Amino acid sequence: MQINTVSTQPIDGQKPGTSGLRKQTSVFMQPHFLENFIQAIWTGIGGVAGKTLVLGGDGRHFNEQASQVVLRMAAAGGAAKVIVGQNALLSTPAASNLIRKRKADGGIILSASHNPGGPNGDFGVKYNTANGGPAPESVTSKIYEATKTLTEYQIVESQDIDLSTVGETKLGETVIEVVDPVTDYAELMADLFDFDAIKALFAGGFRMRFDAMHAVTGPYATAILEDTLGAAKGSVINAVPSTDFGGGHPDPNPIWTKPLVDEMFSETAPDFGAASDGDGDRNMILGRGIYVTPSDSLAAIAANATLAPAYAGGLAGVARSMPTSRALDRVADKLGIACFETPTGWKFFGNLLDAGKATLCGEESAGTGSDHVREKDGLWAVLFWLNILAKRGVSMQQLMAEHWAEYGRNFYSRHDYEGVDAEAANALMDDLRARLGTLAGTSPSGLEIESADEFAYDDPVDGSRTEAQGLRVHFADGARLVFRLSGTGTVGATLRVYMEALATDGFDRDPQEVLAPVIAAAEELAQIKARTGRDAPDVIT
Ligand code: G6P
Ligand code: ZN
Repeated sequence: MQINTVSTQPIDGQKPGTSGLRKQTSVFMQPHFLENFIQAIWTGIGGVAGKTLVLGGDGRHFNEQASQVVLRMAAAGGAAKVIVGQNALLSTPAASNLIRKRKADGGIILSASHNPGGPNGDFGVKYNTANGGPAPESVTSKIYEATKTLTEYQIVESQDIDLSTVGETKLGETVIEVVDPVTDYAELMADLFDFDAIKALFAGGFRMRFDAMHAVTGPYATAILEDTLGAAKGSVINAVPSTDFGGGHPDPNPIWTKPLVDEMFSETAPDFGAASDGDGDRNMILGRGIYVTPSDSLAAIAANATLAPAYAGGLAGVARSMPTSRALDRVADKLGIACFETPTGWKFFGNLLDAGKATLCGEESAGTGSDHVREKDGLWAVLFWLNILAKRGVSMQQLMAEHWAEYGRNFYSRHDYEGVDAEAANALMDDLRARLGTLAGTSPSGLEIESADEFAYDDPVDGSRTEAQGLRVHFADGARLVFRLSGTGTVGATLRVYMEALATDGFDRDPQEVLAPVIAAAEELAQIKARTGRDAPDVIT
């Protein structure tokens, strides 16, 4: 086998972001772009020689081609083994599971998550470490440093490896093991949840709709929900992954899954509806005539967690990102367990999960998960809900009504201003930050402010401190307002304004109505319209 050493030079802009390196597909397909980054990963992790890696992606355009490059470069670097999903497919949580289960040294996930795919869409590469979670800053900064100094990369010359057949083959000295992407993940799910109860639920006529959005969860959802648990054929829609997600935007929110949401609010609505994103880590949950916000879903799962076998012994603790509603805190209070508040970004949960301080965690941005893997997990959330509904024997509407009656309802909404001029967005934040100390006791729009601060996180496991994670305003009546700039946007700046108000009755009201005073206070405090030049948010969740 011949190893070629190819001369190259550093390419600008290869700094991994919140979730690996994400760029337009056309950028990734430029000569040397992918190869440079993969070589930098090898350097950043101290070389790939003798290591075992997991490899797979969400099936978007360039997924297979990129996988062949990674395999050739792993072989050139002397990797012992690469475990790769059949046809180079692996959902992000399934990849995390495989890394842990097979005790691999790490893994490479090819995905741009919920961003559109195709030649005109986005592509991404993410490195996960041996715990199955996204590489921490200490690793990604080494990778980034390597992208700035590399002068060559090594790649073997070979035919494409056949990834369509399960089994083992060799590329040079490196064993390439092609595995069914679903099997290990499905086994894990069967260990966690009461499959018999869910089977009985479907056998009793319970109907559901899962929108796989032409993305990677299609094969997982079909195998588990329809073939194993007995959901009616056709329960999983848009089930065949396509390289451009059927031309759609594989983000499970009420806007991009409108047909599903319309069906769930129609006369013929099934009992339960759900969707997942491009790489299978996000989730959206609906019942007949009800949309359950990610924050409420997390709280309700926590409150009912012991109904699932793997969580029957109770939760060690729970965690949520700071902007996520405090519905979870109310459940944790009642259970007498800790509720950790972390900055936005799944990586902050890793230490808490590894240390056994938290069992369940989630974010308002449609991520929910637990210590079963080190990524958020869309289908896991769906199965958890099915397990809970099967055991409780009530409708989603009734379950949430009972939940709110017991804990109160944290009405919640996020307003996004996208593609705002970055200077204007920073000025808005800087100005508000400067006034935080003077806000207590004032009453914008008649709402009295109790306290205001900028969120910083002290990691209770490794002692690290992360600063400047969002501006918080707490009102005397328990409402809360948070201002943050997105860390994942690609064009200009995205201002996110998170609003929350606690109610102990009147649960059926429209969140925008209930939150109107908080929305008005946000405008008065930050002059959003004047500073962004926008009359209204681009996205309201
Ligand atoms: C990604 C991360 C999440 C994060 C989300 C929103 O999906 O995996 O952990 O919550 O981005 O981040 P943003 O900075 O755009 O609000
Ligand atoms: Zn995702």
